[in-house]
Amino acid sequence: MTEVYFLTSNLGKLREASLIAEQYGISLRQLPAKRIEIQSDDLARISAFSARVAARKHHVPVVVEDAGLFIEALGGFPGPYSSYVFKTIGVNGILKLMEGVRRREAYFLSVVAYCTPKGRSLIFKGRVDGYIASEVRGTGGFGFDPIFIPKGDTRTFAEMSSREKNLYSHRAKAFTKFFSWLAERRGNL
Ligand code: IMP
Repeated sequence: MTEVYFLTSNLGKLREASLIAEQYGISLRQLPAKRIEIQSDDLARISAFSARVAARKHHVPVVVEDAGLFIEALGGFPGPYSSYVFKTIGVNGILKLMEGVRRREAYFLSVVAYCTPKGRSLIFKGRVDGYIASEVRGTGGFGFDPIFIPKGDTRTFAEMSSREKNLYSHRAKAFTKFFSWLAERRGNL
């Protein structure tokens, strides 16, 4: 069975990606190691660097995923700074910034970086368009899930199961591209 190590401490991300890995007969294992991260406003550069360092250090193929929430009315904020913004002002801070704002379009972008110990690396991207809710709704998921409603639904991601979220999500799209690429090259990496 093809094995890939997912460098993440986020169990929500691991759960969502594992559901897709299963469909392709790929074993996705958590690599709970320390992640080396560079400062950049380019999600692909951030994740590719981390994957390269970890694959060399641990001598296994490594996948890293970085995501961001881009809000149109805020000029794409918080984008690559989503993690910092989540930790500081959180979902309630975002709702406050969006008070009285009628244009609520936003999207999540996911960048999956894969790197082999020999240094071969590839990037896969996924995007989901939607809206910022007017209040916090739901208890599932993580991060900004309670305030993001994907286009085509009325529920926030936090009101969905992981499987339901995967029908729409940026992460599911990026990992589906990655796992289908990997499955085609099984045993030939
Ligand atoms: P990260 O750097 O990829 O872990 O994500 C940046 C920020 O966006 C973190 O605060 C995450 O909680 C949040 N985030 C990433 N992916 C999602 C998602 O699928 N739903 C909600 N929030 C997310």
